[in-house]
Amino acid sequence: MADRLLPLHIGIIMDGNGRWAELRGLPRAEGHKRGVERVKEMVDASLNFGIDVLSLYAFSLENWLRPYEEVSVIMHLLKRTIKEEFSSFVKEGIQFRVIGNRTRLNPEILQAIEALEAATKDNKRLTLQCALSYGGRDEIIRAVKRAINNNISADSITEEVFGSFLDTNGIPDPDLIIRTSGEMRLSNFLIWQSAYSEFYFTDTLWPDFTKEELLQAIQNYRTRDRRFGKVKRCMVAQ
Ligand code: FPP
Repeated sequence: MADRLLPLHIGIIMDGNGRWAELRGLPRAEGHKRGVERVKEMVDASLNFGIDVLSLYAFSLENWLRPYEEVSVIMHLLKRTIKEEFSSFVKEGIQFRVIGNRTRLNPEILQAIEALEAATKDNKRLTLQCALSYGGRDEIIRAVKRAINNNISADSITEEVFGSFLDTNGIPDPDLIIRTSGEMRLSNFLIWQSAYSEFYFTDTLWPDFTKEELLQAIQNYRTRDRRFGKVKRCMVAQ
């Protein structure tokens, strides 16, 4: 399906695991487990569709405020998935990277993340960018601190220079951001990088989001008229 209208970078705000479980009288953990299955399906679909970057909002900084048991379940699932998928990421050419505030992650999960990042750093087929312990404002503040610590002068700051201090350094901005479960907000996800992203909102809860619906979101994106603030004539003249 590769063509110039394909979104090269898709971001997904995976929402609705808890509601999916509650609707079925199941513990919320069951929704998260099923959510991980959908993550695997999206990674496979992205490889098949020729997507370059898939960014998944796995755990926000605000999510640390959830009950301890729920945080533990999500962290356990993340660690288990990273370990289980290790060899397939290496084999399939998937580069794994985590964006977010690592200071709050426990050493065991941090070690698993860093091992997979190191083992896949040269992979080029698909980048899976996992937003973990992530908040867009926090990312911006950490970038400002990094710039100051690197003695960057105020005059030399441009959007490009500033972008190089963000966690997403080297990754193109998302073309398409999908949010499941009927909520229509960004919730602090890639707020700098989404300045010109297209959005796709669906009522589907994340555990029910299939590759067919991903394809539907991509087809919908292909009908969008992306002008980046310009008019068509200027874009043709470029
Ligand atoms: C949102 O649903 C989902 C989360 C906060 C956790 C998502 C995490 C996973 C699916 C695991 C990710 C795993 C990998 C490997 C990336 P919610 O709990 O906020 O649902 P609700 O709004 O219905 O309560």
